[in-house]
Amino acid sequence: MPRYFDHAATTPVKPTAVQVLTEQMPRLLNPSSLHGSGRRARLAVDSARSQLASAAGADPSEVIFTSGGTEADNLALKGLFWQRRAEDSRRTRILLPGTEHHAVLDTAEWLEAQHEAQLVTIPVNGEGLVDLPALAQLLAEDPESTALVTVMWSNNEVGTVQPIAEIGRLCAEVGVPFHTDAVQAFGSLPLSFAESGASTLALSGHKIGAPVGIGALLVRRDVKLVPVLHGGGQERDLRSGTLDAPGICAFAAVAEETVAKLPAEAARLAGLRNQLLEAVEGVDGVRLCGPDPRTAPELRMPNNLHIVVDGAEGDSLLFMLDMAGFDTATGSACTAGVPRPSHVLLAMGLSEAHARGAQRFSLGWNTTEDDVAALAEALPGIIARSRRAGLAADAPRSAVQR
Ligand SMILES: Cc1ncc(COP(=O)(O)O)c(C=O)c1O
Repeated sequence: MPRYFDHAATTPVKPTAVQVLTEQMPRLLNPSSLHGSGRRARLAVDSARSQLASAAGADPSEVIFTSGGTEADNLALKGLFWQRRAEDSRRTRILLPGTEHHAVLDTAEWLEAQHEAQLVTIPVNGEGLVDLPALAQLLAEDPESTALVTVMWSNNEVGTVQPIAEIGRLCAEVGVPFHTDAVQAFGSLPLSFAESGASTLALSGHKIGAPVGIGALLVRRDVKLVPVLHGGGQERDLRSGTLDAPGICAFAAVAEETVAKLPAEAARLAGLRNQLLEAVEGVDGVRLCGPDPRTAPELRMPNNLHIVVDGAEGDSLLFMLDMAGFDTATGSACTAGVPRPSHVLLAMGLSEAHARGAQRFSLGWNTTEDDVAALAEALPGIIARSRRAGLAADAPRSAVQR
């Protein structure tokens, strides 16, 4: 079995989820049915809704179940934008940093292309942190024309944790709704929807050990959204479609368990991540991306390490690690087989050449000391080999042939 360092993509399903699914899949039918079986499913969903709400610091009535994080982000951005514009046609601006996940970025770009949204970039610093005074100024410039602000809680590539409560306060001062994508943060960082100041917040099951295909959007009770999906009117008419009762039960059980174990697990993973960092930081050409967890631990996800290797290609590094039995990620999208530098790194000010050498290591609930020791031992040699390969590929042909 390869050693798995890609928990930020999907973390393996936890035993609790398997147990709940195994018990509930044969039992739970359609929670909208009026007969006894339907009522039993409804009771299970209601109880899971309360369980998830309490894990996320929300009220049960604020939980809208979705198929995952992408759908939750789409519902938040499209729903808020359409609602705000319907109330006042001047509200066309969407304020967002360039480091958002594609689920947010591409939705905003679609609103720009199809619905006359104007995208305004909130600047970030070299560690990916939003510039709060710049955001305050953008909001003050023209609050009447601002439909919404969206800033992710923590970044999926470089692990940067944003000052969510401050952003929430700035938005509240001018009465602008604020969406946060907390898909990576939930279960890894302390999180309370009530205290965040956010209007809407996206969650995803498969990032915390629940199955793929279940997620939620938390929607504050005073916030109105236009639905994206129309049909049977489930989830307060905000998200039609038959509820996945067993998936919801598994998601809620895993959320409760993960949040209960969070302080100890975050400390364990941060310790292991720091061991990896120490193993690579002395290696030629390696640089850490995002905040340094040893000087500013509160600014970085405890399970994330992200490096760029000067003169190496992230893909070849990933391939060499794969061959050596380690699953990692470049963190960048690969469109039609053409590797592109990550938009996150470019937004943070890295050059295309530097951004090409990116590698993300994300740890999770079943990462062991042994896994980390094995990677720490193998990494320096693999990095050196991938640099030699990268530098050789860049060299003039005659030089390589000699
Ligand atoms: C920050 C962030 N937002 C949204 C998503 C999309 O979530 P899902 O895979 O549940 O649709 C992901 C998953 O990669 C993510 O990391």
